[in-house]
Amino acid sequence: MNIKEMSQGIHMLSMSIDDMLFEGMWELPHGVSLNSFIVKGEKTAIIDGIIGWDGVPETLYKSLGEIDINPEEIDYVIVNHMEPDHSGWLENFKKINKNFTVLVTQKGGQMIEPFYGDSVNIQVVKEGDSLDLGDGKVLTFHPTPNVHWPETMLTYEASSKTLFTCDMYGAFGSLKNHYFDDEMTEEEMNLYEEEAKRYFSNVLATFSMMVEKAIKKSKEFDIAVIAPGHGPIYRDNPQKIIKDYEKYCQFSKGYGENEITILWGSMYGMTQKAVDYAKDILKNQGIKVNDIQMPQASQSEMVTSVFKSAGIILATPTYEYKMYPPVAHALDELGRKRIANKEVFRFGSYGWSGGAEKELAQIIENHKMKWNFVESVEFNGKAEESDLSKIESAIHQLIENMKNKVIN
Ligand code: FEO
Repeated sequence: MNIKEMSQGIHMLSMSIDDMLFEGMWELPHGVSLNSFIVKGEKTAIIDGIIGWDGVPETLYKSLGEIDINPEEIDYVIVNHMEPDHSGWLENFKKINKNFTVLVTQKGGQMIEPFYGDSVNIQVVKEGDSLDLGDGKVLTFHPTPNVHWPETMLTYEASSKTLFTCDMYGAFGSLKNHYFDDEMTEEEMNLYEEEAKRYFSNVLATFSMMVEKAIKKSKEFDIAVIAPGHGPIYRDNPQKIIKDYEKYCQFSKGYGENEITILWGSMYGMTQKAVDYAKDILKNQGIKVNDIQMPQASQSEMVTSVFKSAGIILATPTYEYKMYPPVAHALDELGRKRIANKEVFRFGSYGWSGGAEKELAQIIENHKMKWNFVESVEFNGKAEESDLSKIESAIHQLIENMKNKVIN
């Protein structure tokens, strides 16, 4: 666990994990950080728990001892979000501190007992409620439901103008050497920006309408520092992550960067040859291509790539009267993430009968994805010259269609 002073009386405690699947399913090629915060006035509060604490009391005493805090004397635990990556330490904490109060939203309060038992003092907070810690430190609480669970809220500390946002404004990516945006190189900032897209698409995209509301709410504060539960602390330019999150909400609605993701799969190379042809066309047009072959690519990479692209090419054959399953599963995941209104073109091979096209229509309809398709091109066996010519025309049409969906 690493401890960093953020301002007088406010410390960040951060731990990074490299070898886990986030939510048990999302690959983390660059790891993830789990950030907690201590705010000390005359009383002491901890925001979002001490993630990464191994449950052994000595570890907690040692870590907090570095900033002269006794865990038994922590008065308040602020739970901005009940998901166990932020609250999972509570059960063990109860064993060493018998007299603390948890501050949560009403919905969060209903979750405490099922998750961590009933021997916890709970104080339910609503919009604008405050907690005076003394010594000039006052916390206020601001529910922002469904970012990402229904009980989520923001916590604001006025003297330092710090907004503690938990999942909101978070990013994947371990924090190992640098923790604050003003410490980071351009290369590091670029990495965390890409990791923020991946985090948003993997974890928050389903809730992007509620994230938009939370962005609006966060703009009501005079902000010097944005302190999320995952990723860097923004104190040089907190507006950057707000603007980025506004853009990511638009990605969920079909907008994207000036690039095309080819989401494809192939059994024996018939569809793959047409994919190679499509790549050449896009290269000649100077369009950036994201090559996502299923099932080889991870779900995390697949979702992120489609999420951030203004144009999508689906290249998938028919398999046993339906769509090639790895691509069908990918599409289903994109539907669950409510990635809507994308500009798309599909082509693919079939053997004795089609069927992929029918299942594609079903998936799009089931998830109300409202994707806008250029007319598909299907070919029996390998693509002939006439098929390739149709593919080329359709790609030009896709490039035209995506022009009004590109945002920077
Ligand atoms: Fe970082 Fe939704 O938990």
